Amino acid sequence: GLNDLQLIELEALRMLSQAAEMAVARRDKLAVEYKGQGVSNPVTQVDREIQQLFAESIRTQFPDHGMLGEEGGGFGHDADYQWVVDPIDGTINYLKGLPLYGISVGVLYRRVPVVGAIWLGTGELLHARRGGMAHVRDQPLHPREVPGSGLLGVRHPGFRTTPKMAGTGLRIMDTRSTGSIAYDLAAVTLGWMDFALLRAPKIWDVAGGVVILEAAGGRALWYDRRRGKWLPLDGFLVLRGQRLESWSRPMLVGRRDVLEQMARCVIPSYPPALLTSLREGIRAARQ
Ligand code: IPD
Ligand code: CA
Ligand code: CA
Ligand code: CA
Repeated sequence: GLNDLQLIELEALRMLSQAAEMAVARRDKLAVEYKGQGVSNPVTQVDREIQQLFAESIRTQFPDHGMLGEEGGGFGHDADYQWVVDPIDGTINYLKGLPLYGISVGVLYRRVPVVGAIWLGTGELLHARRGGMAHVRDQPLHPREVPGSGLLGVRHPGFRTTPKMAGTGLRIMDTRSTGSIAYDLAAVTLGWMDFALLRAPKIWDVAGGVVILEAAGGRALWYDRRRGKWLPLDGFLVLRGQRLESWSRPMLVGRRDVLEQMARCVIPSYPPALLTSLREGIRAARQ
């Protein structure tokens, strides 16, 4: 028979393909609302309906599991298993018609991410469970390496490289920004990009992606501002005593062979207070 994680992975994939169908079929006539002030955090009716679809499916299939999602409707927060769902990651791209978005599901067992599944608007379906291999649809994932070339990565604003970079031999060709963290993580997992520097992802942006990335041989680090250091996730996405939804910290993810060197010479360059005022400035400018 199937063990717990196999069953969860299978059901996550089933929910994800239903959700993907919804995202594709409903894109043409979208009702859009805006969260907060300004227009930078839209939510469509489809984001809400997909969130709802997961909530109902999880309640039916796994009545003793909990769910946390960006668009609310969470339940069962004391349960051992928590489904962490971003119904559409990259909503702005989605509503504009740019296919760089994703639907991301991560399942945590006692705060350790154990199953991940991401569907991308460009058609790829990635999934993995802890201790197993990562797959694209039903094919095992073997990330390709481009020998001798420089690195291509994702860089959110607010990071800088120190002079130590010169001594590492790492060469950054260029950076890209997709507008969807789930897409960024999938791109790194697939070998389309070599690293990603994420400024303040929320737990639903990364819970699915880190499982798949690590199963495919990649690595994820988070930045401890207090100690001024990049630390391994070590399986735990959430620290003891921390609320799942308050999770938000700089991350460096990517190829195992380049990450250690990068961690020595890339730092988040803005203190939190400045970050907040920058964020407010950007928000004000967008209105
Ligand atoms: C956003 C995307 C984007 C990131 C934002 C996220 P959403 O998620 O992942 O890449 O820069 O911080 O909020 O709102 O489209 O699910
Ligand atoms: Ca959002
Ligand atoms: Ca979202
Ligand atoms: Ca998101």
